[in-house]
Amino acid sequence: MKPRITTFSEFRDAVSAYRLSRVLLAALELDVCTVVGDRSWTIPSLAERLHVSERGLSILCRNLAMAGILKKKGSAYRNSRLGATALNANHSAYRGGYLDLLKTHWMDWVRLQESLRSGLPIEHDVPDSPEHRRRFTWAMHHRTLEIAPAIAAQIPLGGAKTLLDLGGGPGTYAMAFLANNPGLRAAVCDREPALDVAREIAATHRAGRRLSYVPLDFSKEPIPGSYDVIWYSNVLHIYSPEDNQAIFRKVSAALTPGGKFIIQDAFLHDREGLFPAEASLFAVSMLLFTEGGDTYSKSETTAWLRASGFGRIKSLRIKKGTGDWEDGILEAVAPGMPQRTIAPRTRSKGNSMRR
Ligand SMILES: C[S@@+](CC[C@H](N)C(=O)[O-])C[C@H]1O[C@@H](n2cnc3c(N)ncnc32)[C@H](O)[C@@H]1O
Repeated sequence: MKPRITTFSEFRDAVSAYRLSRVLLAALELDVCTVVGDRSWTIPSLAERLHVSERGLSILCRNLAMAGILKKKGSAYRNSRLGATALNANHSAYRGGYLDLLKTHWMDWVRLQESLRSGLPIEHDVPDSPEHRRRFTWAMHHRTLEIAPAIAAQIPLGGAKTLLDLGGGPGTYAMAFLANNPGLRAAVCDREPALDVAREIAATHRAGRRLSYVPLDFSKEPIPGSYDVIWYSNVLHIYSPEDNQAIFRKVSAALTPGGKFIIQDAFLHDREGLFPAEASLFAVSMLLFTEGGDTYSKSETTAWLRASGFGRIKSLRIKKGTGDWEDGILEAVAPGMPQRTIAPRTRSKGNSMRR
């Protein structure tokens, strides 16, 4: 994403970026890639099948080919690899849950003025329904199913036996950690409709047998149990600084001595809190959809962690291009020594106490 606008033509181009978005969303709404499937189509036959005008479809498909979603040869169109898989409802790699969320976001962002005026989310008077929670949870799974295994493979858990995926939704990250750590047991904590989705997903994985479920509103209740690692991914931005600090204190109480709290989020990295652009723009989503959410810097999050008793706070480096966010992981250690690494005191030879 090009972050800086210095000329009028760059300003015009940035404002007009909605054109490609609208073309892609129109294609999703018509389900073009599913209908195209694995064959080649002429415009007249595809227009008849989609019940749209030939003129309209011709211009839409040309733009989809320009963007790389379709491939054009002469007067015939077929799917690109992406179109044939993630955008095709008849393929096992279809990301329908997340695509549905992207489709609804268009109409949500049109209402930005409402949230700017009120400071409240656009649907602040609509309670969370189980159906919405289920749809959102599938969207989260379809968003992260490729990223989660890549991230889990790069985070050593140091022999941890238990992990809590707090606000884990579909449990995609918990499953990825389980797959990478054969001795690990994990629990996913979320609202009941989200956990139903997590159960469905876990049932399709061998490692899912080591996953358990904690139905809870952790903003209202203490976190039960005691874990070696608590993974808190994409939840920090939902809450205000005060709410996050209250949650950090609960996390601290739910960790074993010396246990690790690992936070993944869209952190802001520069002094003024403007970049990466993706993290600044994500704050707008939080204005639209949450009561007090925002995006935060690692330094302010570190200060909240210290105030909640955590120490040894550090960034975890993930290979560029494989993370959920740019430089988006922070690890903190709960007070106390990990119990199983406390060696018995001995005067015998050797230096086991120094290891
Ligand atoms: C943006 S999703 C992130 C899901 C997952 N951790 C990931 O990184 O893909 C946030 C999740 O946190 C859950 N959540 C937020 N606040 C919660 C609370 N107070 N109690 C239980 N779950 C909560 C939501 O239901 C949702 O599943």
